[in-house]
Amino acid sequence: HVNDRQEISEAALDSLKHELYELEQQFPDLVTPDSPTQRVGCQPLAAFRKVSHDVRMLSLEDAFNEEEIRRWEQRIQKLVPGKKLDYFAELKLDGFAVALEYENGVLQVGSTRGNGRVGEDVTQNLRTIDAIPLKLREPKTIEVRGEVFMTKKVFEQINVKQRENGLKEYANPRNLAAGSIRQLDPKLAASRSLSFQAYGVVGDLGQKTHEQEHVLAENLGFRINKHDAYCKNIEEVIAFYRRWMKKRDTLPYQIDGLVVTVNDVSLHQKLGVVGKAPRYAIAFKFRAEQTTTVVEDIEVQVGRTGVLTPLAKLKPVQVAGTTVSRATLHNMDQIKRLGVKIGDTVIIQKAGDIIPEVVKVLTEMRTGTEKGFRMPKKCPVCHSAVEQRPGEVAYYCTNPDCYSVQTERIGHFVSKNGFDIVHIGQKTVDRLLKEGLIADPADIFDLQVGDLAGLEGFGEKSAKNIVESVTASKRIPLHRLIYALGIRYIGDETARLVAQKLPAKSIGDFIAKGKKMEQADWEAIDGFGSKLAGAVYDFFHDADQLDLLRKLEKSGVILQHEPKHKTNKKVANKKFVFTGAL
Ligand code: IVH
Repeated sequence: HVNDRQEISEAALDSLKHELYELEQQFPDLVTPDSPTQRVGCQPLAAFRKVSHDVRMLSLEDAFNEEEIRRWEQRIQKLVPGKKLDYFAELKLDGFAVALEYENGVLQVGSTRGNGRVGEDVTQNLRTIDAIPLKLREPKTIEVRGEVFMTKKVFEQINVKQRENGLKEYANPRNLAAGSIRQLDPKLAASRSLSFQAYGVVGDLGQKTHEQEHVLAENLGFRINKHDAYCKNIEEVIAFYRRWMKKRDTLPYQIDGLVVTVNDVSLHQKLGVVGKAPRYAIAFKFRAEQTTTVVEDIEVQVGRTGVLTPLAKLKPVQVAGTTVSRATLHNMDQIKRLGVKIGDTVIIQKAGDIIPEVVKVLTEMRTGTEKGFRMPKKCPVCHSAVEQRPGEVAYYCTNPDCYSVQTERIGHFVSKNGFDIVHIGQKTVDRLLKEGLIADPADIFDLQVGDLAGLEGFGEKSAKNIVESVTASKRIPLHRLIYALGIRYIGDETARLVAQKLPAKSIGDFIAKGKKMEQADWEAIDGFGSKLAGAVYDFFHDADQLDLLRKLEKSGVILQHEPKHKTNKKVANKKFVFTGAL
């Protein structure tokens, strides 16, 4: 804060602070005077004149989800029994808090929060902001508090200029706004086109509700946020939160949550302040897409193609609304890049539906007991040798029959884009392999109800369902068969391209045509590089793969031709009405 320099994201920082706060609640003996929870902001910089705040500038406690906001209401309700609580919900601008003191309507001093009791005199810089009135509409002696911020558009324009001048880009609008205020040159502050919105008036001006406080500020000439809303109960607050969580990106400035305040000002005194934060208001933060946790172990998974993938086993944490306990580390290069060790505290992130990933190691939190990770020399599943192929980052299990490779391969075979056998999921595949009922994908087509019905956990009904769905899947379009085979680098789209190149009537025909293709023929397909072409070429020259295809044909798998729609002239344009049961 002192240097306006950000080392980790706001969300990651929040998550660490929140964890510390919760620990301190549990073990109050461990609170130290220099704990970040014990001060509001930071020490003022020496270069600015100090300003003391007659009314302390408080901070807010955070709630990160609906359960926490409901718990907050329950806590405060106990302190004011019988009172019906209503609220004022405001967008929480991601900016920089300042206090503006007016005497007889004229701006005297503008200051930063500092440590809450003493801030810095940044009047010269604040005067440069158009949205801060130098003179009020009424000659009042009053203090107004609010947020200095930078719009996304201004931030982008400044960064474009930085880029053009070959300078480093700024990290985010909040830091740039804060940095513009906490530097000594007002000309520079003026060039940053900052904005300001008021959210509070200090002292008793006859306001009965927090909402009225906003109206007072507006009447004096301040900009307030037009989206802020009265909420008659906590459910309305939650609805407001959900709405803005979805809509936040449409705003011209960044917000990181809501500020929810008990609307009835007379209750504020009764509810009081604990430490740095009032009980009558809370920051209802949007869920963090980044958080911190500990890497408890690094495990290795063996995938369908035999690739060994390191996976971080994490101490479970909530991120972007779900609990996360593992994150892929991709490969050895990634582990080296991150420098991650077992026992490390790391920042993980999850944006939208994307799988969680480790973004950064907080090396400053190491204790010396962390352990480095090396790829095993033997496959963790079948104990065969592990190799790294020339020119590739990945490590492979050398055993083509590796159990894990098999389960993944058969799971892929029966998946939606492949044979789409709905009643066989990865767990059933696992079971069938373990029971020795199947050894390769083609064995699935020989399964009988009797083979399955006797197994523990499989009734007659589920056995029948499996066999029926297997039978139904025997007719398959060529592109889905190709996908199901799990040829390296071949996904759904590329499988269609292969099928177009080899329009085959039967599996036998497919094999014959495929064997005739040269590597260059495959490379001629639009979108096929040498890697892809090589993989398909190798497939048609791999005796085991061709044997599998023949076995599938023998088991009754037939290629389904995409139906061509024919028109029956006799019934065209006639309407038929069916009654009863069909
Ligand atoms: S009210 C007792 N209202 O959020 C503190 N704060 O986490 C009263 N902020 O320091 C603050 N928008 O910098 C309030 N509409 C809003 C706000 C807001 C942004 C910031 C402010 C404050 C911090 C608290």
